[in-house]
Formats: sequence, C-alpha cells, structure tokens
Amino acid sequence: MVGVVRTAVFPAAGLGTRFLPATKAQPKEMLVLVDKPVIQYGVEEAVASGVDNILIVTGRGKNAIEDHFDVAFELESFLEQRGKTAQLEEIRKITELIHVAYVRQGEPRGLGHAVLVTKEYCHDPFAVILGDDVIDAEPPALKQMIDVFQRVQGPVLAVERVPAQDVSSYGVVAVEPVPEMPRVHRIVDLVEKPAQRDAPSNLAIIGRYILTPDIFAALEATTSDRTGEIQLTNGLRRLLETRPLYACEIDGVRHDTGNKLGFLKAVVYFALKRPDLAKPFREYLDQLG
Ligand code: UTP
Repeated sequence: MVGVVRTAVFPAAGLGTRFLPATKAQPKEMLVLVDKPVIQYGVEEAVASGVDNILIVTGRGKNAIEDHFDVAFELESFLEQRGKTAQLEEIRKITELIHVAYVRQGEPRGLGHAVLVTKEYCHDPFAVILGDDVIDAEPPALKQMIDVFQRVQGPVLAVERVPAQDVSSYGVVAVEPVPEMPRVHRIVDLVEKPAQRDAPSNLAIIGRYILTPDIFAALEATTSDRTGEIQLTNGLRRLLETRPLYACEIDGVRHDTGNKLGFLKAVVYFALKRPDLAKPFREYLDQLG
C-alpha cells in the first residue's frame, strides 16, 4: 500500500513577474477572485479532498499569506462588537479549516527547488498544489487524483489537453493508455516547455501533483537548467527511471490566474457562479456588449 495523502504543499515563493506591477509588493497568491484570495480556493479544495495539513512554501514579501491564514484578533473582536456575525463566521472559517505551516525557500530557484525544501516535512505521499491554477470541479480536482493514486499506487500528475501553440508554456508528457481508466495515462516521457514541433503530445502538466518521498532524491540529483532553476518536470523525468508515473485528465474547469487574461476570465467565471452577484453582473456584462 502506498499510504494516504494527508499533506498538501503549496509552493508560493515565485516572483510572479507575469503579473507586475501588482505583484511588486503583494504575492500573486493573494490576488482576489470576487472576495477570496486565489490561494484560498486551493486550500479549500485540499480540505474538501481529505487533506489535513497544509505546508506553504514562502519567500520574501509573502507575509500577507501567513496573516491571511492566521487569527485576526482585532478584526474578530471588532466584528463581534458590531454584531456582524456572517462576516465573523466567514473569516473564522479560514483559520478553523486546517493546520497551516510554512517553510521558507531562501531564493526562488525554481518549482523543483521549492518542493525540495519540504523534504524534512514530507515522509508520506503528499500533494503539490500550484495555487494560481484554480480548478472548479466536483469531485474536487485533488480528490479525483487521490482516487487515481489509490488505484495505480504511484505518483499522479494532473494534465490537460492544450492548443498546440500553447505547449511551450508547460511541461508536456508522452503517454500510453491505461486499460479501463479512460482519463488516466501511463507516462513514458516528460519534457519541460518544449517547442511546438518537439512536443510529444498536447497533454500539458497543470498545477496538481501527487508525489511520493522518493521525488526528493530525484530532485537532489537534478541539475539546474540554463536559467538557474531546478525544474520539477526534470526531477520527475529522473524519477521515471525508477518507477511508473501516471497522468490524470481532470474533469473540471481550470483557470490559470497567474497571467492577466486568465485571471480576468476567472473573476468573471466565479462572479457568474455567485447567487448574490450573478444576475446584476450578467446584466452589466450584457450592457457592455
Ligand atoms: P511560475 O512558473 O508561475 O513562476 O511558478 P512565478 O515566479 O510564480 O511567476 P512568473 O512566471 O514569474 O509570473 C509556478 C509555481 O511555483 C512557485 C510559484 O509561486 C508558483 O506557485 N515557485 C516558483 C516557487 O515556489 N519557487 C520558485 O522558485 C519558483
């Protein structure tokens, strides 16, 4: 048996350069979709998938994330005095949700390195969630992957079919089918950000992984690329030499909120799903034509 996934790692130490100047003094994980910061969508997904420990990898300038998941004593007593119980419950829900711990990545040396700094804390299978990929799915995306993990008994990467011209923004997998599991594939190769003509498929790795602790040895043996970063995809490629890896197509809607257009689409999508906002907001959009 491979064990149960109880921990989700959220790498959040990147510089967010695609979203400057907004991300100069605030983390991109704290950008707001309607009324919740992006990272909270991922944390809620993890909780709804059965995870009970959250480990956030942070760096310089990321204090707002820690404050968000901490008790806001003054705010709570203010809301209590004013009898604003709905708002009070809403902010308490965040801190009561789950146990959140933090680990620092001294320098942003890539996603692979961000995962590597969690080595001392992850002794069992664990999830990695990239908070800027917000996925609306039922069952939640991570739950879909945990179910696959229990069946295949090995690491599972979330993938999505993307247009051919977009493959160079992603890690891309070459796969073969797994009998009787239509959305699951066995990975035969992985390539980080291939040119369109070199891509082995249009199945792109998106921001969810279920990993096993042997990823750490693979990452330690992975050299930095020419930008000085340790790529998780390259670590996974090395891991593939020692064990099977699987890809799972998620049944849901994904938004990449780490780029401006993706973020705007996500705001509109989630606003239109809100019963209190949908009608007037749609009227407003219709007026715009
Ligand atoms: P991205 O590729 O989106 O990079 O990282 P980024 O720095 O956050 O943003 P851009 O591309 O400059 O706009 C994917 C995920 O890995 C984390 C990021 O926070 C994001 O969740 N990451 C990346 C780290 O935690 N550390 C790193 O050194 C790099």
